[in-house]
Amino acid sequence: AIPVILDVDTGVDDALAILFAVAHPGLDVLGISCVAGNASLERVVENTLRILDVAGAPDIPVAAGARRPLLEPARSASHVHGEGGLGTLRLPPSDRRARDVSSIELMRTLIEASPHPVTLVALAPQTNLALLLRQYPDLTSNIERIVFMGGSASVGNATAVAEFNVWHDPEAAAIVLDSGIPTFMYGLDVFNQVGIAEPAASALATGSSELGRVVGSLLTNRIVLGADRTSEYSGLIGDAGAVCALVDPGALRTEMRPVRIQLSGYGRGQTLVDLRRHPGEDIVHGLAEEWETVEVALDVDAPRYARLFLATLGLG
Ligand code: BDR
Ligand code: CA
Repeated sequence: AIPVILDVDTGVDDALAILFAVAHPGLDVLGISCVAGNASLERVVENTLRILDVAGAPDIPVAAGARRPLLEPARSASHVHGEGGLGTLRLPPSDRRARDVSSIELMRTLIEASPHPVTLVALAPQTNLALLLRQYPDLTSNIERIVFMGGSASVGNATAVAEFNVWHDPEAAAIVLDSGIPTFMYGLDVFNQVGIAEPAASALATGSSELGRVVGSLLTNRIVLGADRTSEYSGLIGDAGAVCALVDPGALRTEMRPVRIQLSGYGRGQTLVDLRRHPGEDIVHGLAEEWETVEVALDVDAPRYARLFLATLGLG
């Protein structure tokens, strides 16, 4: 199994991703690192512990990391994930506790102790990862790669051009891209495609399986934008798709592309992806060193990931 550490801001679709990752036999979830993003750090930690209860997972260590981005204050995403972070889903409090070390220290310990290089799976603003890599640069030798949900080669969501996770902490994302570790971008180009269509999602929400009801609630209750506006995320498995990418990369079309992160102006938080046939051939030269080569997912066999997701959870 692939040893992974999840970095999450649970979060409706982070919850789906955790359930999937824990259930998949091809993944060994060494630990979960929490960061402020979709909800406050305290909520993210509590939601993560509760979701591990739902998953019936053995004692996977959880720790809290950064409560705000490197430069800016944390900004609420309650309009997307609800005040508590899990939409309208209510789960009982957990007996589990977060470790009393920061998630930076938890990740360091897990990476150092792993006999095989670890894959970091970032499903949230990358503040924790940036802090980890800045503080312990030598860890890179035991990090296989960083798979992140974030960015876009096309449309944004936090702004017209910027995806939420990168937009929430653009400096952190830039540090991660610049780390020299191989990176894999599962951005909105694919994220926005993979979902469980109605009426299947509602059937889960009202069905007899307890896990199915949780998954169905997360899929269908996501985001109350008002009576006249359904969410653009309704039904999406979201972050869980980035975890599917680990175990079924064949469903994706990916390309090695130069990527850079905009840090200023309206485009702050945008991932610029050079999609030209001959990337890097600027008429005005001199900026080449600011681009990093990233494996970018550009298209996905969405029904295949939807089936994988449901089958792995025993709901297919
Ligand atoms: C990302 O932002 C959050 O709302 C989701 O959990 C996902 O990680 C999508 O832009
Ligand atoms: Ca997330």
